[in-house]
Amino acid sequence: MHEVPSTGHEWDGITEYDNPMPRWWLWTFYVTIVWAIGYVIAYPAIPLITGATSGLLQTNTRKQVAAEIERFDQANAPVANRLASVELTEIAGDDELSNYATNAGGAVFRTWCAQCHGSGAAGAKGYPNLLDNDWLWGGTLEDIHTTIQHGIRDPLDDDSRYSEMPRFGTDGLLDRGQISQVVNYVLSLSDRPHDDAMAAAGAEIYADNCSACHMDDGTGDRMQGAPNLADAVWLYGDDPASITRIVAEGPFGVMPAWASRLSEADIRAVSAYVHGLGGGE
Ligand code: HEC
Ligand code: HEC
Repeated sequence: MHEVPSTGHEWDGITEYDNPMPRWWLWTFYVTIVWAIGYVIAYPAIPLITGATSGLLQTNTRKQVAAEIERFDQANAPVANRLASVELTEIAGDDELSNYATNAGGAVFRTWCAQCHGSGAAGAKGYPNLLDNDWLWGGTLEDIHTTIQHGIRDPLDDDSRYSEMPRFGTDGLLDRGQISQVVNYVLSLSDRPHDDAMAAAGAEIYADNCSACHMDDGTGDRMQGAPNLADAVWLYGDDPASITRIVAEGPFGVMPAWASRLSEADIRAVSAYVHGLGGGE
């Protein structure tokens, strides 16, 4: 039989021996206690009402992140300063600048632009696709830079791009019948299914009410951000119901100005990034 005394506990014929803890286990346990006390003294540990004890080492992960960001900003400062000061047209020909702009611009885009334009910049209803070569306001680096700097219909920026399509239905400029006719005419411009008789009647309404902005042939006007109505790209949808709603209620797409929020280097970087996505002119 075993010499170790039993604890006296017994379950279903199994008795529990009263063996001492193994030495290695006990020492490890004491070491963890000492470690824990040391840790509490050295590092932020005990929660207080508005923070925590700071610890003897005064470590702070926020400060570490801030220092890391500062280090990167300083390392990038020379190229960022150069990016902010050269002529826009020089960026493409300068490898260092264009590499930096594309990388930094991609990061800016994912942080500030993706929520509206999509992480891949393909846009959504009301938010233009920035990958294609169909531009509302122009696709040169200069145009894109101005759009991003001052925004579109941003009331907080006096230099914002601005235009306003009338609300033909809401403001009673056209009645329902006339709106249906002009919508059919618009559909005919891009060879979409439409009613020929309605479209014929809509042609005159179009000439009188729409051509000043969308042009006689429907190809649009970038000076006014008026979309091309004769192509396959639609900002607000290509179905008769969407087009009817736009003509009746008027669109009013707003893009915020970024000059007050981003540095000039960041605005240029993201401009170059967007310009380089494939549709840049
Ligand atoms: C709150 C939503 C929103 C955010 C955020 C936003 N945009 Fe826009 N952006 C729009 C809308 C809406 C339009 C179209 C406005 C119009 O109808 O003319 C637009 C238009 C544009 C255009 C013009 C496209 C053309 O066809 O001419 C560019 C370029 C652009 N955005 C780039 C950016 C960049 C770069 C950022 C990030 C720094 C950004 N946008 C952030 C909503 C947004
Ligand atoms: C003062 C200029 C102006 C006039 C006049 C005007 N539009 Fe527009 N139209 C615009 C602008 C600018 C936009 C884009 C606005 C935005 O994105 O917020 C637009 C957008 C549209 C769209 C949406 C296109 C898309 O890609 O989704 C349709 C459709 C349209 N207009 C049809 C018409 C019709 C039909 C008329 C005449 C009955 C008309 N517009 C008159 C300026 C005008």
